Amino acid sequence: MARETWATRLGFILAAVGSAVGLGNIWRFPWQTAENGGSAFLVVYLGIVLLVGVPGLLGEFVIGRRANKSPVGALRELSGQRSWGFIGMFSVITGISLLSFYSVVGGWIIRYLLESGVSLVGSDPAYFTNPGQYFGGVSAGADAALYHLLFLGLTALIVFAGIRKGIELGTKIMMPAVLVLLGGLAAWAATQPNAAAGYAFFLRFDPSVISENFFAILGPAAGQALFTLSLGAGTMITYASYLGEDRSLPFDGSAIAVLNTSVGVITGLVVFPLLFSQGINPTETGTGPGALFVGLAGAFSQLPAGTLIATAFFAVVTLAALSSSISMLEIPVAFLVDEYDVSRKRAVTGMAGLVAVTGTVCAFEPSIFGFVAGTLVNILLTAGLAAFLLFVGWVMGRDAIEELASGAGSLGRSLSTPWLFAVGIVLPLFLVFTLLTHFGVDGSIGFWRTVGIAVVASAVAFFGLRRPESVV
Ligand code: PFF
Repeated sequence: MARETWATRLGFILAAVGSAVGLGNIWRFPWQTAENGGSAFLVVYLGIVLLVGVPGLLGEFVIGRRANKSPVGALRELSGQRSWGFIGMFSVITGISLLSFYSVVGGWIIRYLLESGVSLVGSDPAYFTNPGQYFGGVSAGADAALYHLLFLGLTALIVFAGIRKGIELGTKIMMPAVLVLLGGLAAWAATQPNAAAGYAFFLRFDPSVISENFFAILGPAAGQALFTLSLGAGTMITYASYLGEDRSLPFDGSAIAVLNTSVGVITGLVVFPLLFSQGINPTETGTGPGALFVGLAGAFSQLPAGTLIATAFFAVVTLAALSSSISMLEIPVAFLVDEYDVSRKRAVTGMAGLVAVTGTVCAFEPSIFGFVAGTLVNILLTAGLAAFLLFVGWVMGRDAIEELASGAGSLGRSLSTPWLFAVGIVLPLFLVFTLLTHFGVDGSIGFWRTVGIAVVASAVAFFGLRRPESVV
């Protein structure tokens, strides 16, 4: 059967933006920002989005569009080496790991949506009177598992319907809805008392926080930048594999990064003024995955028309989460379809069945949930993107330049050489370095030794590859 492609030019951008915009922007971003020094974190994160995220996105696009295959087949075919196919297999593992915890959080959100709006699940007064306790009850155990299955079912239904009728149609409806609702919420939040204090916390830039805490901020900021742009998992390779040649990849990549970052910033403009208007200081409400829920439910309970606002807010989050979770499920599904000729429907059923189990484990075991959502995912994404970019620089080489320029005219050509240098050498070094900071390496052995280890590790990776002459 012929491989599906996106029906429209906009379809691809919206699907990729849909993948990027998700719980990463709305749930993880404000929490990470509050935990890592407010605007200082924002500045480092924005720098990484621009300097690593955009070139990294282009790297994944180039692989996917060139090969018209999902990561395993793409890396194997473009290199002519089976071993690269094994490296591609990590993307399947990453996709399953991501969805296992994401679907649990998606379940919490659906629960909050139902509870705050129509009280379908029987209004629990603790939602308003004791948000911390309510979150504790919702976020673990059988309830969490049940809602995880509901969220996963919705995800599977969309992926089941295919690229055009499922993912493309779904994101064409969901993304505009997210943007309109979020814009409305931000405008409304601006009218709340004391909103200015929220903006100040979020946007006031204090350079000393960066210089004092650079290493502490770097790892989380890089992890957040990759997570929010859906980089390192092979999603963007997979989505680009359904592209025709007529797209300008640099244009699409920049549009996706700008839209994604805007949603992150607008979310901050909703969340922080809301919290401050109710006298809730995000650094004091406790950190961790519950911060958004506990803080906001508290704020909603005190607001006029809080029910309506809460419903609108959780509707945004649900749509954004779904448009991302479908891109996670598409990674293993495309793998089965491309490599084993399994029908899409069987692939979806099989993979959703697997994640139903792994997600249930996450729902029941907060320690496993925490490990998967934090450390494991950060490491898999960082290592995954480093591997993809090394592949672009050292295996594809000039082919990558040609692919980037195709459809992009002179823009692609003038950017290509510096870009290839960046993705082949500079960015992998940076990624290996941040990978090491996850293991606390900079803290225990110091900056220059860490750089030394990153250089040696990258050199070993370079020379292990077959066509080193292909970097320009
Ligand atoms: N970018 C998504 C978010 O911000 O919620 C998360 C994500 C989706 C990460 C797909 C990785 C991925 F492959």
